[in-house]
Amino acid sequence: MQRTIGWFKDAIIYQVHVKTYRDTNGDGIGDFAGLISKLDYIRDLGVNTIWVMPFYPSPLRDDGYDIADYYNINKRYGDLNDLKELISQAHARGLRIITELVINHTSDQHPWFARAKAAPPGSSHRNFYVWSDDPTRYKEVRIIFTDYEPSNWSKDEDTGMYYWHRFFSHQPDLNFDNPEVQTEIFKILDYWAAMGVDGFRLDAIPYLFEREGTSGENLPETHDFLKKLRTHMDKHHEGLLFLAEANMWPEDSASYFSDGDECHMNYHFPLMPRLYLALKKADRTPIEYIMNRTPSIPDACQWAIFLRCHDELTLEMVTDEDRLYMRENYAPDHRARINLGIRKRLATLMDNDVRRIKLMNAMLFSMPGTPLIYYGDEIGMGDNIWLDDRDGLRTPMQWNGSKNAGFSEVESEKLYLPVIVDETYHYTKVNVEESELHADSLLHWMRRIIHIRRQYHVFGRGSFTFTQADHPSILSYWREYAGERILVVINLSDMEQLTSIVLGKAGYQEAMEDLLSNDRVHPEDGTLNLRLAPYEFKWFSEIEVERIELLEDKLVMGVD
Ligand code: NOJ
Repeated sequence: MQRTIGWFKDAIIYQVHVKTYRDTNGDGIGDFAGLISKLDYIRDLGVNTIWVMPFYPSPLRDDGYDIADYYNINKRYGDLNDLKELISQAHARGLRIITELVINHTSDQHPWFARAKAAPPGSSHRNFYVWSDDPTRYKEVRIIFTDYEPSNWSKDEDTGMYYWHRFFSHQPDLNFDNPEVQTEIFKILDYWAAMGVDGFRLDAIPYLFEREGTSGENLPETHDFLKKLRTHMDKHHEGLLFLAEANMWPEDSASYFSDGDECHMNYHFPLMPRLYLALKKADRTPIEYIMNRTPSIPDACQWAIFLRCHDELTLEMVTDEDRLYMRENYAPDHRARINLGIRKRLATLMDNDVRRIKLMNAMLFSMPGTPLIYYGDEIGMGDNIWLDDRDGLRTPMQWNGSKNAGFSEVESEKLYLPVIVDETYHYTKVNVEESELHADSLLHWMRRIIHIRRQYHVFGRGSFTFTQADHPSILSYWREYAGERILVVINLSDMEQLTSIVLGKAGYQEAMEDLLSNDRVHPEDGTLNLRLAPYEFKWFSEIEVERIELLEDKLVMGVD
C-alpha cells in the first residue's frame, strides 16, 4: 500500500487483540485466521487502520506485553505466514496495520534475561538489563502498577542482585545505556517493517533510561534515542508511523513530537479522563482547562485520542481531587478500581445510557486528533470486573447469540476468558448480529458518524477554538481547515438547555446544517440560539448539501 504523507491524520484506528476477536481452530483463543475472517466487518465500520496488540511468543502474564521472542508469533495465534496474510488482506481492503514495539522491557522468560544472569557482572550481556546491589537507587521514580508491585526493584535469587522494572516484576527493563541493546532494537524494527506493517505503537516509551535524582521519565537520553530510531526508520522504511505511548501531562506528551523528528503521534492521555469528568459534572471546565494547556504541535504530528483501551481508565494525569471524584462517581464498586484507574468499558461507564455513549463518541470524533476505537465498544459491550487485573476489558468479541457469542466452538470452560453473561450486557443481547438487525443500534450509528467524519479533513487536520457559549454545560468549539468550518455544540447535562452562541465570524449568517441529523438552524444577528435536549449534540456546517456530495465523490482518505 502506498503511504501518503500524513495519512495518519485522516485515520480512524480500531484497536484489537488477535486473541479476543475470533477463534477458528477451536482452541478457545482467537487467532490470525479469525481476525482475517472479520476484516470486512472492520472495514465496514469505516475505520482505515487497525492497531494489532502484541502477538509475539510470551508467557502472557501481561497479555503479551511480556515478550519472550521478538522475532516470532505466539503459536496459539498462528505463524508468520498468517501475519503476512493479515497484512496483505488488510491492505487489499484499504486498511493499514500498526503493530507494537515493546522495547522498554522483556519477559523474564526472554533468553536475554537468562543469558544476563549467567554472564559475568559488568559484561555487556549482563548489562542488557539494569542491575544493582542497592534497591534504594532511583528512589524518585514512581511505581506504576501500585496494586501489584511494592518496588521498581526485585531481587534475582540466582545472582543475588536486584533488577529494575517499571511494570511487573516478571518484566525486567532493558538497559538502553548498553549500545548492544540499542542495536537489537534497530534490528527488531527492521524485521517487522520488512514484513509490511504500516507503523508501530511504542509501548511505555518514556521510561527507557534511568538517571539518579530524576523521575526516570522523559529524560533527554530517551528523546535522543527516539530521534535516532526515527531517523533510522525514515531512512530505511519511509512513511511508517511511530505512535508513542507516553502517559504524561500535555507539555511532556508534546515533547515526544519534538520538532516533528521524533514520534508522529502520541496519545492525549490527560484529555481522556476530562471528557468523563466534564460529562459527569455537566461542566465543560475540565476540557477547557486541558485543551488550553495543550501546546500546539508540529504540522507533521498528531494527537491520538481515545475513550477506552485495553488498560484501566488511567487517572494518573488528573489532580488527587479529580481522581477521587472519578473513582467515586464512575467506580463506586471498589472492585472496578485498579492501580490509579478504573477497569470498565465505555458502555458500563455510561450506565448503558446510549445518549451518553453517543455523546462521548461525538466528542471523540470531533476533537483534534486521530480517534481510536477499542474493539467491542462499537456495539456497547460490557465488562467483567470480577476477572483478574484488566482481563475484564479483554473478553471475547460478541458476534452473535449462539454458544460463546459466536467467538469459538470450544467448550465454554476452555475459553481464554469467559464471555459476558451479566443481565444487561449478556452476549445474547449485545452482539454484532443483533446490532445489524436494528437500524437504531449503536453499531449503525457508529458507522454513520464515522462515515460523516471521513468526509471532512477538518476533523483530523483542522484548528480548534472554543466558542463563547453561555451555559457551563454547553461545550462548543469550532474546527476549521482549508475552507471547511464545523461548529460543534454539545449539551453535557441531563437537562434541556437553551443556549446562545455568539458566532462572531463572517459567514454562518444564513442556514447552518447539523451533519448528524440534517436539521437546519438560522442564526440571528450573528448569534445562534439553540434548544438542546439532554445530552444532545450538533455538528453544524455551512457546507451545502450539494457540496457535501461532491466532496464525498472526490475524497480519498489518503489510501491510494
Ligand atoms: C502499556 C500497556 O498498554 C499495558 O497493557 C502494559 O501492561 C504495560 N505497557 C507494560 O507492558
